[in-house]
Amino acid sequence: MRILSGIQPSGKLHVGNYFGMMKPMIENMDRGELYAFIVNFHALTSVQDKEALRRDTLEAAADFLALGLDPERCVFWVQSDVPEVTELMWYLSSLTPMGLLERCHSYKDKVAKGIAATHGLFSYPVLMAADILLYQADIVPVGKDQKQHLEVARDIAIKFNNSFGDTFVVPEAQISETLATVPGTDGQKMSKSYGNTIGIFLSQKELKKRVMAIVTDASPVEAPKDPDTCNLYNIFKLFASAERLVEVHDLYVGGGAAYGYLKLELVDILWEYFREAREKRDAFIADHGYLREVLAKGAEKARQKASSTIDLVRERIGIRY
Ligand code: ADP
Ligand code: TRP
Repeated sequence: MRILSGIQPSGKLHVGNYFGMMKPMIENMDRGELYAFIVNFHALTSVQDKEALRRDTLEAAADFLALGLDPERCVFWVQSDVPEVTELMWYLSSLTPMGLLERCHSYKDKVAKGIAATHGLFSYPVLMAADILLYQADIVPVGKDQKQHLEVARDIAIKFNNSFGDTFVVPEAQISETLATVPGTDGQKMSKSYGNTIGIFLSQKELKKRVMAIVTDASPVEAPKDPDTCNLYNIFKLFASAERLVEVHDLYVGGGAAYGYLKLELVDILWEYFREAREKRDAFIADHGYLREVLAKGAEKARQKASSTIDLVRERIGIRY
């Protein structure tokens, strides 16, 4: 079984990325053949600063390794190091109905948030389908926001297989039911494009600033509150111990939950939660040579798989003459 997922280096990685995609990927390391990659072609739809893109690509690699991805037990690379994906994208584009892409929420949401409405942003799901189909992935762990993109990838695979004969594995999304979407500081989906994130590896000062920015209602401390609709509680529960969570839940329901104190407690919990990973990350960031070496080896392995798929596809569609 091949398990594959990608992450954009379009800013600092945040706790939504961690729970939605990175943690499930790391936990999947021994459940199959794991393919993890940094999708820098996709990031071009929102990043036009070359230094930022270079830095964030290497930092995303350092983050993933620091959080526990072991490059010896998976294939870990940067998307652009296997350019065959753009070739496959064209083949897939040529049979992707416009209507399929026009229905995608992600495009509309991103444009509504001010991201430029480019052709790249519109065809983003086709590049993502190419990512998945090129490596013949069976399972794709992603956050709930990517569910529709997985459906597009499946539709494209089925359409291609029906037109040209069985070529692609039809992939399945793996979405955690208990943790579909991590809320951001404003209660919407936490996303780099919405400016509502809590970064995994912030300085203590920045972390405090972000946690203090979590939006809460204006009810007094003594008032009973519904924890499930409270943004602070919903973030808190991802990190707090089971015992502490019961206490805090009682404070909400019975009255006595003081948002300010809970936020300060959350800063401490978060700081400890990622302490070990932070120390490892600092070491990786200081050694770009090592990061590049790991990524180059990963790209070589990824490319082997990609070449055999692309050869088959060229044959199937008549491009090899
Ligand atoms: P962003 O929206 O911040 O740009 P990406 O689109 O790069 O994040 O997402 C990378 C991965 O992290 C995807 O699998 C996505 O589903 C997951 N993810 C992103 N934000 C969240 C969130 N708030 N909750 C759960 N998973 C998330
Ligand atoms: N679109 C995904 C996101 O924004 C990133 C991505 C690109 C991806 N290619 C992929 C995820 C292939 C899984 C598989 O989060």
